[in-house]
Amino acid sequence: MYRLQQELDKPTLKEGGSYIMEGHDAAEAKNVCLIFSPEQEEAGALAKMLRIFDEHRVNLLHIESRSSTRGPGYEFMVECDGKRGTLGPAIEAIREKSNYFNIISRDYKDNEATVPWFPRRIRDLDRFANQILSYGAELDSDHPGFTDQTYRERRKYFADIAFNYKHGQPLPHVDYTPEEVNTWREVFRNLTKLYRTHACREHNHVFPLLIENCGYREDNIPQLEDVSNFLKDCTGFTLRPVAGLLSSRDFLAGLAFRVFHSTQYIRHPSKPLYTPEPDVCHELLGHAPLFADPSFAQFSQEIGLASLGAPDEFVEKLATCFWFTVEYGMCRQNGELKAYGAGLLSSFGELQYCLTDKPELREFDPAKTCEQKYPITEYQPVYFVSESFEDAIQKMINYANTIPRPFGVRYDPYTQSIEILDSVPQISNLMRNIHNEFEVLQNAFKKL
Ligand SMILES: [Fe+2]
Repeated sequence: MYRLQQELDKPTLKEGGSYIMEGHDAAEAKNVCLIFSPEQEEAGALAKMLRIFDEHRVNLLHIESRSSTRGPGYEFMVECDGKRGTLGPAIEAIREKSNYFNIISRDYKDNEATVPWFPRRIRDLDRFANQILSYGAELDSDHPGFTDQTYRERRKYFADIAFNYKHGQPLPHVDYTPEEVNTWREVFRNLTKLYRTHACREHNHVFPLLIENCGYREDNIPQLEDVSNFLKDCTGFTLRPVAGLLSSRDFLAGLAFRVFHSTQYIRHPSKPLYTPEPDVCHELLGHAPLFADPSFAQFSQEIGLASLGAPDEFVEKLATCFWFTVEYGMCRQNGELKAYGAGLLSSFGELQYCLTDKPELREFDPAKTCEQKYPITEYQPVYFVSESFEDAIQKMINYANTIPRPFGVRYDPYTQSIEILDSVPQISNLMRNIHNEFEVLQNAFKKL
C-alpha cells in the first residue's frame, strides 16, 4: 500500500455481510469477544455459561470451542452483540465462573483492561473486506481517471470482485484489456531498465524467477493467483485481493498471517508512470519479489505480529516503520546503496532520485523511525537504511517487546492461526517443541 492511513474518524462502511464497527463510531455498537474456560469441566458446562448471557439478554453473534492449550478441558470464544442486554454484568459473571478469561474487543478504549480485537484465524481476514475506509471505485477529483466513466466502471468491477472474495477461494482471474496491458508495458519496460543497478540483491535474485514462473512479461499482466502460489512455495506468503484502503490495524494484521492485501486494478492510461494509490504494478513489481525472500518475509511478519492487540498509538508507529521499510526502505550491499521498498521499486522517478545525494539518509532504528513524519504525494525527503534484513528483524523484535500487551503472540503455520501466549503450560509445550527441533538439527549436523 502507498497510503496506510488511520482514518478512524470517518470509516466508510459498506453494506454486505456482518461487519464490526470500528473507530469513534463504535459507541453505537460495542461487540466484544470473550475467551474463557469454565471452571467446571462437567458435561453441559458451556450450556450453563450460555445461560448467563441469556439471563442478561445478551445476543451472541458467534460461538466456537476448542481443546484448551492452557490446561485440561475446553476453551470457548464467544462474540457478544453489545447493542442489547446488560453486557457488563454478564461479562463479570462469566469471569467469576472461569479458570481462564480474556477479553478481546473493538471498543477497548472504554475499558482499558481489554485488548483491541484482532484476527485469530486466517479466515477472520474475511471480515476486513467489509471495513474498507474508501472503496476502490471512489476516486478523488484530482485522480487522473476522475472524469473517465469507463475507467471508473472498471475500478468498480475490481473493487466488487475483491469485496466478495473469501479466504480459500482461488484468486479472481482477470482478463486485462489491451489498453491495460499497454500501461503495464510502459511501466514494466521503464522499471526493469533500472533494477540491475538500483534494486537490492534479493529483488534481482527473485525477478528472473517471476519471469520464468509467473508470466512477468512486457505483454502480460501477471495473475495474482500465479504470483500468490509462487510466493507460497517460497516463503508461505499469499496475496489476497482488497477492494480499497484498509485501516493500518487491519492491513498490518494480514502480515501476521503472511497475507498481503493486494490491489488488482491498473493505474489510469493517461499517466502510466504515475499513480496516486497502489495498483497492480506497485504490488507485483514492487512488493511481490521481496515477499519471496525468507528474511524479508519474516521481517514483514514481525511487524504484523507486533500490531496484534497493540494500542492505537503503537499501531500507528508500526505503520510508520512499515512505510520506511517495506514501502521506502533502502539498504547497503557491498558498500553501495540499494532500494528494497516497494514504493521505490515501482516508481521510475523516485527509484532514480533515492540514489542521488538529494534525500537525507538515516540508519533504520524502529524507536526513532516510527516518529518520523512523511509526505504521501511527493518523493520522500528522508530514507532509512538497513544493513541487512536480519539486522532489521532483530531491531523490529526488540522494538515490538516495548509495546504494552498482556500476552505474547505466535503464529502457528499448521493451523494458520494466532496463539495467544499467556500461560505456563503453553510456553512449556512450545519449549518442548523447540527442543525436539533442536535435536533434529543436531543430528543432521552430526551427519555433515
Ligand atoms: Fe505498497
